[in-house]
Amino acid sequence: MPLISRSPATGVWLLTTPRTSYALRIDDTGAPCHVAWGPRLTPAEADSLAGPFEEPVSSFEGRPAVGEELPVDGGTRYGPPSLQVRYADGSRAFEWEPVGHRVDDSVPGVAELVLEFRDRVFPLSVALHYRVRADTDVIERWTVLRNDGGRHVDLLRADSAAWTLPPLADYRLSHVTGQWSAETRLRRERLPHGETVLTSRRGITSHHANPWTMLDDGTADEDRGRVWSTALAWSGSWRITVQRTPDGRAGLTGGVGHEGTRVPLGPGEEFTTPVSAGLFTDGGFGAASRAWHGYVRAHVLRHAGETAPVLYNSWEATGFDVTEAGQLALAERAARLGVELYVVDDGWFGARRSDRAGLGDWTPAPDRFPRGLRPLSDAVHRLGMRFGVWVEPEMVNPDSDLYREHPDWVLHLPGRRRTELRNQLVLNFARRDVADWAFAWLTRLVAEHRVDFLKWDMNRVFGESGRPGPEDGGDRVWTRYVHHLYGVLDRLREAHPELRIETCSGGGGRVDLGILARTDQAWTSDNTDAVDRLGIQRGFSQVYPARVMSAWVTDVPNQLTRLTVPLRFRFHVAMAGLLGVGGDLTRWSEEELAEAAGLVARYKEIRHLVQHGEQYRIGDPYGDGPSAVQYVAADGSEAVVLAFGASPRHGTPRVPLRLRGLPAGARFRDTETGAVHHATVLTEYGLDVRLPGGDWASSLLHLQRVPDGDAGDRAGS
Ligand code: GLA
Repeated sequence: MPLISRSPATGVWLLTTPRTSYALRIDDTGAPCHVAWGPRLTPAEADSLAGPFEEPVSSFEGRPAVGEELPVDGGTRYGPPSLQVRYADGSRAFEWEPVGHRVDDSVPGVAELVLEFRDRVFPLSVALHYRVRADTDVIERWTVLRNDGGRHVDLLRADSAAWTLPPLADYRLSHVTGQWSAETRLRRERLPHGETVLTSRRGITSHHANPWTMLDDGTADEDRGRVWSTALAWSGSWRITVQRTPDGRAGLTGGVGHEGTRVPLGPGEEFTTPVSAGLFTDGGFGAASRAWHGYVRAHVLRHAGETAPVLYNSWEATGFDVTEAGQLALAERAARLGVELYVVDDGWFGARRSDRAGLGDWTPAPDRFPRGLRPLSDAVHRLGMRFGVWVEPEMVNPDSDLYREHPDWVLHLPGRRRTELRNQLVLNFARRDVADWAFAWLTRLVAEHRVDFLKWDMNRVFGESGRPGPEDGGDRVWTRYVHHLYGVLDRLREAHPELRIETCSGGGGRVDLGILARTDQAWTSDNTDAVDRLGIQRGFSQVYPARVMSAWVTDVPNQLTRLTVPLRFRFHVAMAGLLGVGGDLTRWSEEELAEAAGLVARYKEIRHLVQHGEQYRIGDPYGDGPSAVQYVAADGSEAVVLAFGASPRHGTPRVPLRLRGLPAGARFRDTETGAVHHATVLTEYGLDVRLPGGDWASSLLHLQRVPDGDAGDRAGS
């Protein structure tokens, strides 16, 4: 079946992915309308779902609030508009007039449909884009708006797409909430009638919400049930409005900006929305997550096929007390552990001895690095590691040479106070000169100091945004800032193809499909407490793959929570993502260093499964019994299980952990003990996980498939 086809009988467009279908058509008024989204359909089946166009049931109704591909503000529509326009004469509304369509399937395995429209009265064009691929069920949608006239137009709302769910008996919304050091708390809540708004008004994706949704009928679980999910590829302010209508339908619309942030469109200007990606799966939340992970690895990340190195980061060890000698001492110990990438965090530049000064002055501090960073970089390379540095290019401390020279470069409103958060102000990246300045020093830093890796941080949210300058201020700032940020990242990566970048915003404040298209991994949270991380990682994994989830092993008691848990547990939790170490290694005992080196070596044996395999979440990390994350090789030949237990309660029933995703009938050998297990027993009857005992115990089980016909040597289950 072609990826995109059109029914000559009904005009229904049918988009086909490996396991799903998406159908739409243009109705008798010219508006693009939804037909179906769910399990695979033939063209004839899709046609049969395109019933007659319905008339409003009373004079108090208009067009249905859910069911259009991009509900506009115009005519008799009363739901939240995806597109709301105000013309130069002050009038509003958009009236669909179809002007054509295109299908581009010139590249095998991918096809794009473009439906083109204009307003019936004003010279404004709207093109709806749909991209489908042969190797993923994710459908990418975006909208291009063009002002073809000679006067300006305001896009009061310009969402990427609206998504319509089929009629279901009930609706439940899964999403995440959070705050600094407590990101990605998974919420699964019955969808209330009315409008539920998920949003960030902070200029960044935010710790508080993340622009993805999952909707089901309230009965799906980790392994079963239909799930409709969306994710927005955008790293600035955003808004998703999920709607449950009085007549029992549900849908959502989402895109850039929060309420009141218009997108100005000058004569001849065009605005391309970010992608809103959608996914239907019929295998529960676990299958939805695996489908997202596969999509992110294959189509969002640039270097997902690479093995990510084990890194060391100095932040929790030294704070701002960064010196060449201190870093060298840590680097030598890190190398002994088997670390492959050494990252110097905040404090290496300008007058940065605390968070009160120096941000913006990106030259190595002469008192701490008299010969620049190059001697440290060379030493780290000589130790066999790559060299990384922390940067925060979008920020400035008022106490800095940069601010003294360019006080007008920050987000501000003339005459109003400039509110500091963490003693810093936001540089207005919407200004071309600011973005160019950032690129210039970054590219120099990378080249001159042989930098292999940047941890790109962003440590405060917007404030007093809007003025000055019609080009870079006003409401333009909300989108142009992000486009320029993307531009700097893109240019850096082009100039330095070997450079790898970690996105960070006080931990996980800027993780989304937009930033992941320009970076290689994400700092998940400043909270490195392994117990808290179990929950944070659960939430993170709903959409984002372990391949991007940075996790460090740090000291105990934990700096934030004061909790003490075993080294092995801290390692096992971090090994469920991209393992890093962030403790003060100069204070680790020889026994701890030896144990850590063993665990790093163990990670290297299994990381191909974590980074490139299929992830299964098993059990509740904060429940009575053990929980686990399991990663299975795509070909089913190998798996790793990381199991975690809280405090044992004597007498609590031992419930075996049923593993997932192992081919029935196969046998697997435990690489540590040699015991051979039957896959069917592990998946249907479960594995009796025997944790070592004590608080916060954990275990790692690495299973390799026994070739058929091989007798195996020791019986397990
Ligand atoms: C943010 C990051 C931390 C660290 C500090 C440095 O909080 O998330 O990991 O880099 O900044 O100031």
